[in-house]
Amino acid sequence: MNRSKTVAFLWLFSALFFYSLFQMALRNSDSSHNYTSASDSTVSNKEQRSALYDRMARDLDQHGPLFLKHGHTSQSLSLSDIFTIKDGSVAPILKAANPPVRANVLHLSTQYSVPITEALKPILDPYFDKVIWFQNSSLYHFSMFHASHHISPVPATQDEIEAEAAAVRAVTQELCPLKIVLDRVVLTSTGVLLGCWQVISGSDPITIRAKLRTALPRAPEKQLYDAAILHTSFARLLGHPKASSTVLSNTGDQVHFFHGLVDRLNNELRGFEAVVSELWYVEEFDVLALALNGRMKMRRFQLGCSRN
Ligand SMILES: *[C@@H]1O[C@H](CO)[C@@H](O)[C@H](O)[C@H]1NC(C)=O
Ligand SMILES: *[C@@H]1O[C@H](CO)[C@@H](O)[C@H](O)[C@H]1NC(C)=O
Repeated sequence: MNRSKTVAFLWLFSALFFYSLFQMALRNSDSSHNYTSASDSTVSNKEQRSALYDRMARDLDQHGPLFLKHGHTSQSLSLSDIFTIKDGSVAPILKAANPPVRANVLHLSTQYSVPITEALKPILDPYFDKVIWFQNSSLYHFSMFHASHHISPVPATQDEIEAEAAAVRAVTQELCPLKIVLDRVVLTSTGVLLGCWQVISGSDPITIRAKLRTALPRAPEKQLYDAAILHTSFARLLGHPKASSTVLSNTGDQVHFFHGLVDRLNNELRGFEAVVSELWYVEEFDVLALALNGRMKMRRFQLGCSRN
């Protein structure tokens, strides 16, 4: 396989995913500024998230399942160049991130992620045997704030990294564990199956991101996600559902099929509750390391406030 092409596909794949969420963040940024200034307004944060999730759910209708088209329009865009089949299962082709990405994420413990994966698999496996990548249940995470990302890299020395980690640790002392509920499952046009969550109690993501921004003044001004979003990726669909189970000849049929699938996932998972009590400062040495089991270094911090 052509190595440089593979690298280009991998970047394109991650860029597409980030771009779609980034656009949503931009579209939402006017209203988010309003609510950020009134940051104690829990109802508003919740409404802001609901509106955002509505828009994310419409993405599939508006753009269709783009992840199916890649394999068709051009061989060079095939997602099979990013994932490969190794020992009978899908494995990612990893690409070094230079400089490494430095991400702050909330971690969802396996106490919650394993039951979620167990609910997803019986619904998805019959259709997507070798064309699905499940998020590692030990690495379920909610992206909060990047000290450096691949769109605006902020190189750092080892000392600067230690200082960032210390500043993040100080922030986590002030944050309270989040009790959260799964609001809905969404499939993006790029094939990413996301869990979109609401906050029942604890520190709101808007507050968490604002505190991290203050603690990390060198961080890219433009972040990858909306200030209110609380989402975790469950799986990535990499191709067509099995031909034997369904024949989907046009985009309308495909969208209809995927809506049905997402409805079934929602019936199983909507309303699922969890508690988040750790924030991780992660250096990702490979592109999308947290998503693709790449090389990374995590520093784990307990959310220190035990108010709730
Ligand atoms: C922001 O808040 C002001 C005053 O509450 C309101 O008039 C305005 O419409 C809001 N802007 C947006 C974009 O929501
Ligand atoms: C999932 O992540 C854990 C923690 O990083 C790791 O030990 C494990 O090997 C990963 N599983 C796979 C299948 O890569």
